[in-house]
Amino acid sequence: MSRFKAVIFDLDGVITDTAHYHYLAWKQLAESQGVHFDHEFNEGLKGIDRMGSLDLILASATRSYTPEEKLALADVKNRHYQELIATMSSADLLPGAVEALDAVRAAGLRIGLASVSKNAFTVLGRLGITDKFDYVVDAATIARGKPDPEIFLRAASELGVAPADCLGVEDAVAGVASIKSAGMFALGIGHPFVLTQADVVITSLKEFNLAAY
Ligand code: G6P
Ligand code: MG
Repeated sequence: MSRFKAVIFDLDGVITDTAHYHYLAWKQLAESQGVHFDHEFNEGLKGIDRMGSLDLILASATRSYTPEEKLALADVKNRHYQELIATMSSADLLPGAVEALDAVRAAGLRIGLASVSKNAFTVLGRLGITDKFDYVVDAATIARGKPDPEIFLRAASELGVAPADCLGVEDAVAGVASIKSAGMFALGIGHPFVLTQADVVITSLKEFNLAAY
């Protein structure tokens, strides 16, 4: 049994670990512009959309960029990222992810996906789990990225469930903030001292226990 009617999952860092692919693609792009890029910087980009991430990287560049130049650089990064994710398969599912999705389904709850990645449909397909979701938000139709609540509110409304009846699952600080401002219960994946706004934090979906929240 669960007091929730829907569970809305983030994708990157929750169901699969694409952060390393984003890291490789952003690092190459940043260095092409003379900007130092490391794992610590990459951490701060988790949950942040593509253009927002690029703006954070180019803030350290020695010159300014026109909107057209920024779009071109984002496109270079994205094509590299797409090459990297083309080899993904069900082997890239994080431990406990399928079990968590199946437990939510078995409990009779609705299942949504709220990722700001415009590659989310491709990644779900590569992982072979597209049909496990009742609704997947199309990030191209979202005006404001996380930490704005828009994406989680859209998922709830399309699932026909009130935000207060939703459990949101996130690994990023910006994502947890998005869930909380949507008025949902936030389950954080990671460390409690990082995800301070989350209602409960677990280290991975291996510990997912719907009845406990
Ligand atoms: C997720 C990742 C971010 C990424 C964003 C946009 O939120 O955590 O690192 O920048 O998606 O991804 P995209 O595939 O649209 O470039
Ligand atoms: Mg994430």
